Amino acid sequence: MCIIHELKADTQFHFLSEENVMHEVGYPGLSQHSAIHSQLLKTLDEMTVEIVKHKTSEFSMLDFLHNWLLNHIQHADAEMGAYVRSASTRPIGEKFYKHFLTYRD
Ligand SMILES: [Fe+2]
Repeated sequence: MCIIHELKADTQFHFLSEENVMHEVGYPGLSQHSAIHSQLLKTLDEMTVEIVKHKTSEFSMLDFLHNWLLNHIQHADAEMGAYVRSASTRPIGEKFYKHFLTYRD
């Protein structure tokens, strides 16, 4: 169960980082994207309860999360990424974490 809590904490941190970038560049879809993130965290909480009650397995959660992430990255994150790359206001993280970025100016 500990790894599920770590997974959720890492997911929350990732979502917060993503939402900060969207805020910094004035992404118009921020509230909608943030709501999608919140819904996933809620679903993970519900699945965690189901795991505790032995109504589902950790593998089901991982399978769900894998599919969710692929879909989210290919659509919502890709759309947001395109906006961020073309935004005139640059996110501050770009200055300090260039080595993590896969695109360059
Ligand atoms: Fe996202």
